[in-house]
Amino acid sequence: MPAVARAPFGKTADGTGVEIFTLKNDNGIEVRITNYGAIITSLRVPDRSGAFADIVLGFETLDGYLGAHPYFGAVVGRYANRIADGRFRIDGIGHRLAVNNGPNHLHGGVKGFDKQVWDAEVLGGNGVRLSRVSRDGEEGYPGNLQVAVAYSLTNYNELIVEYQATTDQPTIVNLSQHSYFNLAGAGNGDILGHQLTIAADRYTPVNATSIPTGALAPVAGTPFDFRQATAIGARIDAKHPQLTHGGGYDHNYVLNRKGNALQFAARVVEPISGRVLEVATTEPGMQLYTGNFLDGGIVGKGNLSYGRRAGLCLETQHFPDSPNRSEFPSTVLRPGETYSSRTVFKFDVSK
Ligand code: GLA
Repeated sequence: MPAVARAPFGKTADGTGVEIFTLKNDNGIEVRITNYGAIITSLRVPDRSGAFADIVLGFETLDGYLGAHPYFGAVVGRYANRIADGRFRIDGIGHRLAVNNGPNHLHGGVKGFDKQVWDAEVLGGNGVRLSRVSRDGEEGYPGNLQVAVAYSLTNYNELIVEYQATTDQPTIVNLSQHSYFNLAGAGNGDILGHQLTIAADRYTPVNATSIPTGALAPVAGTPFDFRQATAIGARIDAKHPQLTHGGGYDHNYVLNRKGNALQFAARVVEPISGRVLEVATTEPGMQLYTGNFLDGGIVGKGNLSYGRRAGLCLETQHFPDSPNRSEFPSTVLRPGETYSSRTVFKFDVSK
């Protein structure tokens, strides 16, 4: 197993040094991760003829990540996805979070985990562990949270993402990985031809500001049904009221699962290159976001611009707005408990 390479990646506005870590496996797969935002900056995997391409949207330099961008490659938290009006209660005590997405809180607030410099430690088994303390009151969250994410790359072509957190006061935690995948190569067109399978019979429909209504609606007979492999573009512009809210797919799926073990969540196949991505997770949900808000305004790696639907996010997570929905699986973390979550991205090719 080749050693993890560690190199400087620039400085933030306040002069803090940031690093970049390169993980490679014996099959030539290479992932680069920075401790700024715990961001995956590149991910090179082969197609069916053995030609490598970088399949995640992002930037070559730290400066790109310091500018405005929609969470490319980042770990989002303390709470991934939305919390209605930025308000929730634990044990009868009300909390107010930063509001940064219309009336709602999104992806941890104004300066979420995606914009923080994490401490970094190289792991023996071809990995890197990033950690930080999210202080009591950060973006309005209660409790000092000790949080870590470990990335490791195996010779089975798996990128394993493991999250852990502990707290000194009752709080809420929901961490996710916000990579935008394009299996044809980042910047090489849109993802509408990608074939997608999602192991979910139900999803959580949303209101006009993308907050779940509380219903767990069947996907059967709707454009949300990906139980059989279907091109993402086949029904994305169908006249379904849920597709108008986010301008396409931007919805949480209720994964079919039993227990808390790692289970299959989704599979994506890009038919031309043959590249395949499989996602497995311990989480109960997964947000499918099809890059509807990308508009060509961001120029990324290789000087390529990212147009509408240039990438797709498969954000394994607890359901949006769970802190205000006692019927959803709980996201509360209490002192003495350990939040732990695992998602595996596995790369393959189809014949
Ligand atoms: C998430 C949200 C989307 C959008 C993107 C970032 O996936 O669900 O609505 O905010 O992040 O643009």
